[in-house]
Amino acid sequence: MATRIDGKLISAQIREEIKAETAEFQKENGFLPGLAVIIVGENPASQVYVRNKKKACEEVGFYSRVYELPESTAQAELNALVDELNNDEAIHGILVQLPLPKHLDETEVLLRINPEKDVDAFHPYNVGKIMIGDYSFLPCTPAGVMALLERTGVEIAGKKCVVIGRSNIVGKPMAMLLLHANGTVTICHSRTKNLAETTREADILVVAIGKADFVTADMVKPGAVVIDVGMNRREDGKLTGDVDFASVEPIASAITPVPGGVGPMTITMLLKNTLTAARNKAGKS
Ligand code: GUN
Repeated sequence: MATRIDGKLISAQIREEIKAETAEFQKENGFLPGLAVIIVGENPASQVYVRNKKKACEEVGFYSRVYELPESTAQAELNALVDELNNDEAIHGILVQLPLPKHLDETEVLLRINPEKDVDAFHPYNVGKIMIGDYSFLPCTPAGVMALLERTGVEIAGKKCVVIGRSNIVGKPMAMLLLHANGTVTICHSRTKNLAETTREADILVVAIGKADFVTADMVKPGAVVIDVGMNRREDGKLTGDVDFASVEPIASAITPVPGGVGPMTITMLLKNTLTAARNKAGKS
């Protein structure tokens, strides 16, 4: 039976560390790390995420602001707010909650964020830095997975790592981080042939495909470490991952539950990036 990797507990430990580092940072520099979060419209899931981000900032002692803009916001208004925050000395990290309403151009907004304040690591400049292994900001979800593996004592070097999913936010950067940690990495996706054959070779299997209970026991090598990035809402309203937990748990050596696995780590990594942005600023001024 697999060990359950407790993302809630590990996340709480890291947040305690960030809280202590923040107090130290303020003593040394006389200001707090500051995060601005922009949300446009009323997507209920986004509203929950933004509320949790604000709460997390308060818990570790950051300065934070949430901008709640109406659905009708024009591109020029959103761009102007980003420009203003780019020039705001109290703000070190800017996050535009995605998805944006359809009439707004996500790429245009993300490109407008000063890469030094891009705590999501979505700007092509930071994406490029991740490719060459030179990064101050790590993409939050993959960084959260790496922290879980590290703190659970899972060795990556030389291991066969399979990532299911190739999104810009999770799959692709996840593969890069595993590669930088000297894993032998394969990325699988919707067009992969004989998927189960490949996933069964994985010592470390990271699943980010967005399909409830997609990975079943026959797709997993006995003793594998299984990380479930999925967050799917069942018809009864319950959250469930991309891995069929009940069938995979008995054969894996370690597994993340949903909820309580990767989810809590994402905001924790956002806090880490914001502290890094503030440190970078302090080092420069
Ligand atoms: N929407 C869902 N996940 C994320 C995230 O990590 N960052 C932003 N900005 N929006 C999201």
